Formats: sequence, structure tokens, C-alpha cells
Amino acid sequence: MKPKLGIGVLVSGSGSNLQSIIDRIEEGCLDAEIKMVISNNPDAYALERCRKHHIPAVVLRHQDFRTREDFDGQMIDVFKSHQVDLVVMAGFMRVLTPLFLNAFSMKIMNIHPALLPAFPGTHVQQKAIDYGVKFSGCTVHFADEGVDTGPVIIQAVVPVLVDDTADTLAARILKEEHRIYPQAIQFYAEGRIQINGRKVFIRNGPVVPEFAAHNPSLTEF
Ligand code: GRF
Repeated sequence: MKPKLGIGVLVSGSGSNLQSIIDRIEEGCLDAEIKMVISNNPDAYALERCRKHHIPAVVLRHQDFRTREDFDGQMIDVFKSHQVDLVVMAGFMRVLTPLFLNAFSMKIMNIHPALLPAFPGTHVQQKAIDYGVKFSGCTVHFADEGVDTGPVIIQAVVPVLVDDTADTLAARILKEEHRIYPQAIQFYAEGRIQINGRKVFIRNGPVVPEFAAHNPSLTEF
């Protein structure tokens, strides 16, 4: 049997995206196994979700490390020693250093609650409202050295309503996040994602051997 895609999840807060991944795995529609969750915040509710679902989790407080590289180096060690093929950032409030990005090159996904390249960074629901856009949404992308700049995998669109607050818009967007993040991970697990520069293609049908070789977990294709 083909081994399941091993994922490592990075969290800092509520972990509702982590929950959507757990739920899809438990329902049998996401062929992945969460090998390890790392939180930089000991109080993250995401850790409680891990406990409930018997998912291994560890707290690494970034304040306890001398440099960003030391912190990232420790995260690399944890994920590499737990057979993590794909890193999934799910509300992780730290910027990754090139050390980490190179250790999992084009194997790190992030979700952002806006339609990139519009509104990168933080407080983006309020920024979308203040700008007056009629639509916003969410973006799953590969992480690169910039902030929310990596190649886009999938996006979903929601309307911005006249009476929206940052909270009501965030809730509408979050619902779509929970739908598309597991979907993007499943595309990856199926070996259907092909990256060409900035462009990400989702392949139909069987996977070409060259692409399978790119993902050690998918070499049986
Ligand atoms: C989400 O809106 C995500 O797009 C952003 O941080 C939030 C995390 O929410 N990066 P949760 O912790 O998954 O509930």
C-alpha cells in the first residue's frame, strides 16, 4: 500500500484550519496523516484539538531560542525526525527563515485570508473592508521568502457586504478556508500539483514520473 502523505502542521492560535484537516482525514477524503503539530504558543487552542484527536503535538516557544535560525532549526529537526513530507502552516504567526524554506523547498503550504496578491500581511479583512473591495476570499499558496508571496495553489471568493465588520467577513472567509485547504493538500497527496515558476498547475489523471520523483512519498506512481 502506498504510504500516506505525512504532514507537519504549524499553528499559533485557534487551529480551526487544523480541525478541518483532521475532520477530512477522519472522514476518509484526505489521504494524509498528521505526523506532528508544532505550536509556538503554549496556550493555542489548536493544542486542545490535538489532544482530543490523539495527534502528536509539541510546543516550541520562539522566545526560548536565541535566533530565528535556532528556532527554525529545531522545527526542522522535529519534522524531519517524524517523516513529514509536507509542512502546512495553519495560522502560524511567525515568518520562516530561508533555513526552514530550503529544508522543505516548495513543500510548505500557507493559507491567507485574502485574494493574494491583494492584502498580504495582517488584519487583512479590515483592510479589504476599508479599501472598499466587493469581493475578498482566501488563498492557499506555497511559502517562499516573502510574506504571502509564494505561488498560488487555489483561491476561493466571497462577497464583501455593506454591513460587514472584520469579524463577519473573517467568518465568511474562514468557511471557505476550511473547504479549500484540505482540498489543496489532497491534490498534493495525489501528486497532481505541478509547479512551473510562479504558476501552479493541478493535473488531471495520472502523474508523470518526473513529478512523482519530486515527492518521495509518491514514488509508487
Ligand atoms: C486564518 O484566517 C488563516 O487564514 C490565517 O490565520 C487564521 C488562522 O485561523 N493565516 P485558525 O487558527 O486556523 O482558526
